[in-house]
Amino acid sequence: MTPQKTIEIVRRIEAGAQAVRRPLSDASHVPYLLYSDPDVLELEKERIFRKDWLMVGREEQIPNAGDHFTLDVFDEPIVVVRNEAGQINAFSNFCLHRGAEISPKGFGHVDEFKCPYHNWLYDLDGRLMGAPHMREAAGFEPRRCALPRVRLGTWGGFIFITLDPGTPPLEQFIARYAQEFDFLRFEDCTIGERVEFDLRCNWKFVVENLFDIYHVTTIHAGTFGKYRDTLDYFTDEPGQASLFGYYKSAPSVDGGKSLFGHMPWLADKPETFACSGFQPPNVQMFARCDGAVVHTIWPEAPDRTRMISYLLFPKAFRSDPQFERKAAQYGEYLRKIIDEDQEAITSLQRAAKSRLFRPGRMSKLEHGVYNVLNFYLDRMVPRDGDPAAPRLEASEGG
Ligand code: FES
Ligand SMILES: [Fe+2]
Repeated sequence: MTPQKTIEIVRRIEAGAQAVRRPLSDASHVPYLLYSDPDVLELEKERIFRKDWLMVGREEQIPNAGDHFTLDVFDEPIVVVRNEAGQINAFSNFCLHRGAEISPKGFGHVDEFKCPYHNWLYDLDGRLMGAPHMREAAGFEPRRCALPRVRLGTWGGFIFITLDPGTPPLEQFIARYAQEFDFLRFEDCTIGERVEFDLRCNWKFVVENLFDIYHVTTIHAGTFGKYRDTLDYFTDEPGQASLFGYYKSAPSVDGGKSLFGHMPWLADKPETFACSGFQPPNVQMFARCDGAVVHTIWPEAPDRTRMISYLLFPKAFRSDPQFERKAAQYGEYLRKIIDEDQEAITSLQRAAKSRLFRPGRMSKLEHGVYNVLNFYLDRMVPRDGDPAAPRLEASEGG
């Protein structure tokens, strides 16, 4: 994006930000241009998604040497693989020859990666081990070549990557979130179910919807709406703490009664225990007394979002012979809830295309939405001046 274009988009976002950069009692929803304009998404990628640490999966998904999975992170093909020493690394998933993808899409197991195009061979540490018919290439030494590494870190059994070599370490990035939620012991949990959703709306509508208490007793009246209080549990604490909340609900399964009992480390909590937390830019977590669901939210287009949800339970629950069947029931319940949300959030996206729609005022029950939006806007268009502005002045001056 040219500096000129960046300035133009930033000014539009800044103008829209005024709607929520005031007390909640005076706030309105931001202009829906922020949810439909491809340039806004480009700037979000530039300023947020290509900089931050992104949760891409769980360590347990690749338990053995050679186990791997691929993903496309904003046009960067990546392969995440466990090596012989048991370490997990991430590499660009393109061959050093002409860029063909060395690993097929999805999850798999290999002893080594063989590029399907001309058979260049890589070991599990990304080193080029062989390249057929290349002896005559003067000065070319395969053993000195390796796939570009992508920064990877782990916390709580989750795997994170970042595309930005300059981003602070994961420990720093996740520190506030970890301080808040270490007690949930995600590292002692296992995936009961993994569910993918293709949502026909902007990624921010998904994030906001998950924190919108206002709609819980309407479209979710038949599911978890009947167990939830509709008190505003979000606070105006500064920074990330504004994205954490504690409230009352019920286990996330049909009937609202846990099929497993409490997570051992939450034995002192009531069955109504519930909390949630957002780790920007794309990890939204909801915990109950018996487990947690962690959603990762991936923008695919201004009006399309992929959500990958992990239902986590204590590893000890696996000794229950009915573990898979019970976990599947929690998965079914989640599908039902997201189904309930789908039509509403899809219709918000239709409003985002309208020239006539003007976003309305906010309820105090939208405190979570308000906090998420303010946190997001402070990243996109910081209150103390925009980082793009000096660059523009410099280029104009030069
Ligand atoms: S592109 Fe991989 S070997 Fe040619
Ligand atoms: Fe909902």
